Amino acid sequence: MTSVSAPVVPVVPETPTPQPAAATPYQRLGGEQGVRALVDHFYDLMELEPRYADLRAMHPTHSAETRDKLFWFLSGWLGGPDLYSPRFGHPRLRMRHFPYAIGTKERDDWMACMVQTLDEVEMDADLRRQLHEAFAGTADWMRNKAEQGNMPAGNVVHA
Ligand code: HEM
Repeated sequence: MTSVSAPVVPVVPETPTPQPAAATPYQRLGGEQGVRALVDHFYDLMELEPRYADLRAMHPTHSAETRDKLFWFLSGWLGGPDLYSPRFGHPRLRMRHFPYAIGTKERDDWMACMVQTLDEVEMDADLRRQLHEAFAGTADWMRNKAEQGNMPAGNVVHA
């Protein structure tokens, strides 16, 4: 008579296999190459698309260093190596944007350019949603221009 008893190899191993740590957004984007591609696409759009002309005009230099700085910052911000702080110290991103008057229009222009970038760079839908949310929050925090009652008084730099 053939037996239908328990299998010889236990289905649940006694020692659980170590699970790999959850991938960071940096890794899911494809590491250094992926982050570079995102930054390049963002600035290519800003330079080429007529609808971002105002945003482009705010940027004084548009040098390779502008791209490098965003890349170095995003590398750490997305969970990869921190390449920004060793070069420039703490990011203090909001403070570094004080020279530029950023209100809702500037925030929305920046976000439109980033949303187009996220749509056009290959990544999974879940990561795209996550990055969209994170960028939107950070871009909103960057506002420093007084506008009809929607800025806390202490945050205003440009009246
Ligand atoms: C809200 C709308 C924003 C506007 C209008 C804006 C505009 C600018 C401008 C004009 C510069 C100077 C570029 C240069 O010197 O060539 C700059 C620098 C920079 N921006 Fe933004 N930005 C915005 C949001 C953001 C956000 C959301 C991030 C990050 C998630 C970011 C990251 C950076 C970084 C890392 C630099 C370089 C800072 C430095 O070391 O000088 N910006 N931005």
